[in-house]
Order: sequence, then structure tokens, then C-alpha cells
Amino acid sequence: MNLRNPKPDELPSFRLDGRLAVITGASDGIGRAFALAYARSGAEVVLVSRTREKLVEVQRSVEAAGGRAHVVPADVARFDDIRRIEREVSAIVNRSDKGKDLALVLVNCAGFGFTKSALDTTEEDWDRIMDVHAKGTFFCNQFLGRRMIERGYGKIINLSSTWSVSTDMGKSVYGMAKAGVSYLTAALSTEWAPLGVRVNAIAPTSTLTESTSRTFRENEARAEKLLSRIKLGRFAEPSDLVGAAVFLASPASDFITGHTLFVDGGWRAGC
Ligand SMILES: NC(=O)c1ccc[n+]([C@@H]2O[C@H](COP(=O)([O-])OP(=O)(O)OC[C@H]3O[C@@H](n4cnc5c(N)ncnc54)[C@H](OP(=O)(O)O)[C@@H]3O)[C@@H](O)[C@H]2O)c1
Repeated sequence: MNLRNPKPDELPSFRLDGRLAVITGASDGIGRAFALAYARSGAEVVLVSRTREKLVEVQRSVEAAGGRAHVVPADVARFDDIRRIEREVSAIVNRSDKGKDLALVLVNCAGFGFTKSALDTTEEDWDRIMDVHAKGTFFCNQFLGRRMIERGYGKIINLSSTWSVSTDMGKSVYGMAKAGVSYLTAALSTEWAPLGVRVNAIAPTSTLTESTSRTFRENEARAEKLLSRIKLGRFAEPSDLVGAAVFLASPASDFITGHTLFVDGGWRAGC
């Protein structure tokens, strides 16, 4: 049994050089912020969402900052699309001169907010939420996880939410999906830790993306109510989540797995 840290004096690296990061939901909001930050931290990025034109805009921003980005339009609610994402990622790895040495990272940001009373929720609502947040997250983990396991190393970051552990009017199905994402994170970390793959999640509080801001403008009373629960007294910006996302993709977090990191301005404190 080796009880010694093999590199006791080395400072951990927060850089993402030599990493290929697949980011779903990269065309907007939180995923877009992560893609730009990952590229600036040294990662090559694979941008996934349904809208090619928006992905190309993000690709241009990455390249303008000196980074490298690939565009893979795909719908994570479709099993065949996830299979295609995995095939395209494998092709990128095979073409790369870094080849075998590239470390794979997956960030599952594809998704959307949803607030509707349980009594009004339809089967269509249910399928739309579960297909993206539950099925999409699970099979992206499975398909890209396999490639990581082959390489003996990989890092996965899933997007959960403060609604995974707290409730409010209209949050039954969304909260259930996000609680599932946190559970899946812990379950996969258990299965894949011996295989070198770390699986963690980030649980943000309300974050001012375009879609969230629009919702808040339409219902200011609700926005005020939510704001009153955030101890730091403001909503998050996507940039507030970037530090956690870079950390969890970097070598500095290699001893962390199965964790859901709340980036919530103190939402849960005292709950
Ligand atoms: N913003 C918040 O307050 C907040 C708080 C907690 C957790 N979250 C979670 O964080 C994640 C990102 O949210 P966000 O606020 O950044 O959302 P957003 O600004 O609306 O962006 C969502 C992204 O997901 C993509 N997307 C949606 N459905 C997709 C699908 N079926 N297949 C592939 N891509 C899809 C969208 O692109 P296309 O439309 O081009 O496909 C877009 O790039 C979600 O999981 C959300 O639940 C958000």
C-alpha cells in the first residue's frame, strides 16, 4: 500500500492545456461562457447545441481569442444525435496530433428552465424536460464516459440546480430532473472512479442568461421573491460559474468526484 502523495510539493494546475472539452448547450448562456473560459484556459473545445449559426458565432469568438473550437450541431434529446456527437469527438481525437494524450472533458449544459404547477403540467412538458435533462445528460455521460474509460482518465461536469434540493411553486418536474442529475453524478462517480473518470456537478442559483432575464422581466414579483433567498443579494451571472467549471475540469480537482458544487450566493445557507 502506497500511503505517500507522489508529488507533495507540486502546485496543482488550474490550466486546461491538453484537454478536449465537449460542451453541450454551448451556443448560449452558461454553456457559452464555459466554452469561452475553457478556450482561454488552454482547452480545445467542441461546441454542441441544435443551432449551427449560433455555434459558429461562438467558434469565431474562441478563434478570435487564439483558441480552437469545433462545431457539432446536435439535439441531446435524440439518442442518434448523441451517438453522432461521440463519433465526431472520436474523429477529432484521431485527427489531432496530440491524439492519445488529449484528456477528455464533458460539460452537460444543454437545457432550459421550466416553471409550471404540477396540476397544469402535461405529458409533453414532462417528455421535453426529461428528454433533455435526464435522458440527454445520462446518454452524453455514457457515450463520452466510454471514451474516457478507454483512456483511463476523464472529467464530467453536469448542470444541476438549487432546485435539486429546494422547492417553490411550479418546480416539481424541473426540480425532479435536476435532483436526478445530482443523483446520476454521484452514481456514475461510484461506478467510474476505479476507471479514472471523475463525475461532478455544478448547481447554480438563478443565473442571468438571456432566457432567465426575459422570464424575470415578465414576472418581477417572482424575481424579487427569488432574489430575497440569495444571501449575497444578487442573481448570478454566467461569469460567476466559470471558476467552478474551470476548476472541476482542471487537474487541481483530480481528487474530487461525486460532488455537486453549489454556486448559489448562499441560497442554501441556513436552509
Ligand atoms: N440560468 C439559470 O438560472 C440556471 C440555474 C440553474 C441551472 N441552470 C441549468 O444550466 C443549464 C444551462 O442553462 P442556461 O440558463 O445557460 O440556458 P440558455 O441560456 O437557455 O442556453 C441553453 C443552451 O442549451 C441548448 N439546448 C437546449 N436544448 C437543447 C437540446 N435539446 N440539445 C442540444 N442543446 C440544447 C441551447 O441551444 P439551442 O437552442 O441552439 O439548442 C443553448 O445553447 C441548463 O441545464 C439549466 O437547467 C440554469
